[in-house]
Amino acid sequence: MANATVSSKSEKRSARWKKNYSHQRDLYKQIQQEGSDILGSYNFRSTKRHIQHGNVTVNHHCMNVAKYSLAFSDKLHIRCNRREMIRGALLHDYFLYDWHDKDHVQPYKLHGFHHPGIALDNAKQEYELTEKEQEIIKKHMWPLTVVPPTCREAWIVSCADKWCSLLETFHVHKGHGATDQF
Ligand SMILES: [Fe+2]
Ligand SMILES: [Fe+2]
Repeated sequence: MANATVSSKSEKRSARWKKNYSHQRDLYKQIQQEGSDILGSYNFRSTKRHIQHGNVTVNHHCMNVAKYSLAFSDKLHIRCNRREMIRGALLHDYFLYDWHDKDHVQPYKLHGFHHPGIALDNAKQEYELTEKEQEIIKKHMWPLTVVPPTCREAWIVSCADKWCSLLETFHVHKGHGATDQF
């Protein structure tokens, strides 16, 4: 009897793990599908050079934010444009410098306020951005950006960004550190 209970528990655990694994794989597939040009670009890959929080790179962080944005909208049954949400999430921190570098041209302490605008300018130079994608990038740091987001996609990405930042800062999400190999 005890053995049967243990076996049923482990079967349930294994089924849960499989379900979760296949869900994660689906989310990654969607990100690959909708953001393949961004993911393959030199500048996006170069964000592996810079740490965002903990030992997670900016590149890894943006992938996490895209994945969690999809997961949140699924879980809460919020209808949204998945393509725009993915692309906005991938580019939301496209500031392309090391924000920990105090000597950097961007004032270190004001990074939180300024980087959405810088990311938007950089992204606009390389991609044809929709209104929603621009809104996602511009407002992801709300309330620091004062004016609140005006579309669901931007709200979701802003929440996913805060959630991921928290998990990265407290090392719940672990990365492999920065690398020049990209
Ligand atoms: Fe950001
Ligand atoms: Fe972010």
